[in-house]
Amino acid sequence: MEYSFSKTMAYKDLSKHLLEIRGVHLKEMFEQDPHRFEKFSIRLGPILFDYSKNRITQRTMDLLIELANEAGVKKKIGAMFSGDIINITENRRVLHWALRAPRGVKLSIDGRNIIEDIHSVLHRIKVFVSDVRSGVWRGFTGKKISNIVNIGIGGSDLGPRMIVKALDFLIPEDINLYFVSNIDPAHIKRTLNRLDPEQTLFIISSKSFTTQETMQNAKVAREWIVENLKNELAVERHFVAVSTNRDGVVRFGIDEKNMFEFWDFVGGRYSLWSAIGLSIALGIGFENFEELLKGANMVDEHFKNSDFKDNIPVIMGLLDVWYTNFFGCSTYAILPYSQCLEDLPNHLQQLIMESNGKRVTLDGREVEYITCPVIWGRVGTDGQHSFYQLLHQGTHLIPCDFIGFVRNPYGVQEQHNMFMANFFAQTRALMQGKDEVEVMGELKTSGMSEDEIKKLLPHKIFPGNRPSSSILIDELTPYTLGALIALYEHRVYVQGCIWNINCFDQWGVELGKQLAKDIIDKLSPGYICNTYDCSTNGLITYYNTRSDK
Ligand code: F6P
Repeated sequence: MEYSFSKTMAYKDLSKHLLEIRGVHLKEMFEQDPHRFEKFSIRLGPILFDYSKNRITQRTMDLLIELANEAGVKKKIGAMFSGDIINITENRRVLHWALRAPRGVKLSIDGRNIIEDIHSVLHRIKVFVSDVRSGVWRGFTGKKISNIVNIGIGGSDLGPRMIVKALDFLIPEDINLYFVSNIDPAHIKRTLNRLDPEQTLFIISSKSFTTQETMQNAKVAREWIVENLKNELAVERHFVAVSTNRDGVVRFGIDEKNMFEFWDFVGGRYSLWSAIGLSIALGIGFENFEELLKGANMVDEHFKNSDFKDNIPVIMGLLDVWYTNFFGCSTYAILPYSQCLEDLPNHLQQLIMESNGKRVTLDGREVEYITCPVIWGRVGTDGQHSFYQLLHQGTHLIPCDFIGFVRNPYGVQEQHNMFMANFFAQTRALMQGKDEVEVMGELKTSGMSEDEIKKLLPHKIFPGNRPSSSILIDELTPYTLGALIALYEHRVYVQGCIWNINCFDQWGVELGKQLAKDIIDKLSPGYICNTYDCSTNGLITYYNTRSDK
């Protein structure tokens, strides 16, 4: 029978099971089972995944795994790793995992071993990185390159930007990395104002090499180089491109020999492992870039080969389904306890929501259930002083991921302990809460009158029973970071397998792009627009009447 998530046996059983579990407090679950942590946590090399503070029992997990079996998740994982065309709306394979496969692995696509192609681009990256960092590659006037500007947007920006920020402690002092994504002229202008053109290299990163934001910013950068270095030939020493579109790159004026290719089987939000990661490799060095790939590859093997009960991405994805479709949670918080991972929530927003923000199944039927939750988050402890109030006492149930490290890359273990004490405290506070009896006791001891206590009591109660998962990693290295990101990538696929949607297309971004192309012609001083609805016409006309002032 055709798979339909909400018609599976497991869906029915989970719905019934929810009624049994809904009224049970996590605190009781911990009191009843002192081995809950061992039961519901998994070690994977340097990573500990603790999911015991989730609203689950062994029965929940058994049923979720039954759901995965009914959804054919094993077969679907196999299909991705065999190179089947699982991105059916774009007629593409999904092979981002192949970008981190070691040399020697064979994956034949249309008669070519694609792993060989991947490694030959990696070799070019290695040589280029060494040339730039050692000064063999110099700017047009002979100066060493010290500023590297990645111009790209979405997957051609967020992943590399996040990794470069995270691993900043590995970047030599004489290399400065910048990321320009927004078509707001302020972004490119502010960046250029800080730079010496003679020492600046631009990487134009775009899978399609047609994205308006990237092309426009690249044009501005090109004009800036030519104007400042007073020679068209300077472009060759100051621009490289990363793309799947060779013709587009050449048309822009970048020599083919300065282009690093990747392939249409790599989705933008999954592309940091490809040449799109050139800025990463230039920053942290090629050996460290390889470590990033190795960490991700370790997770690929784990995802492909582990039983579902020990499989971290599978369990993560199933828990997401549990909260989204059974508890009705509509948002999910990513809370890194690492300043270095400041940009992780941004990257994961694109990865998860662009992948699974879908409303039709693979065969085009409208889904009868909720799909991807809204992903948001912020680094701890900043978030604690901002929105944690809502996490603890608000009316929404928001599952959270806490991500932290045992050691800090900057040493200073004592301060790191203060930081991580907050991580552990928050996950416990969300789980345990503070009930009426406890609050009453505290208020009485503080010497408050009965009347005052009565007034204050409801405000001081923490209901608890708020779920979180903890990802605790030995230390932040390229290897562990690669592994962490790959866990999330595969988690997304597990969600998609259960929801029966295509995680790898993104048609939802097209309509706005199309309209913007149309509207640009209507933006002209004094022009009265009457093409659209009265609000859009009104806004455009108002803008036009004031834009020349
Ligand atoms: O707007 C969505 C999108 O297509 C993303 O999926 C992609 O990462 C981004 O635009 C950039 O695309 P490109 O790398 O082709 O410039």
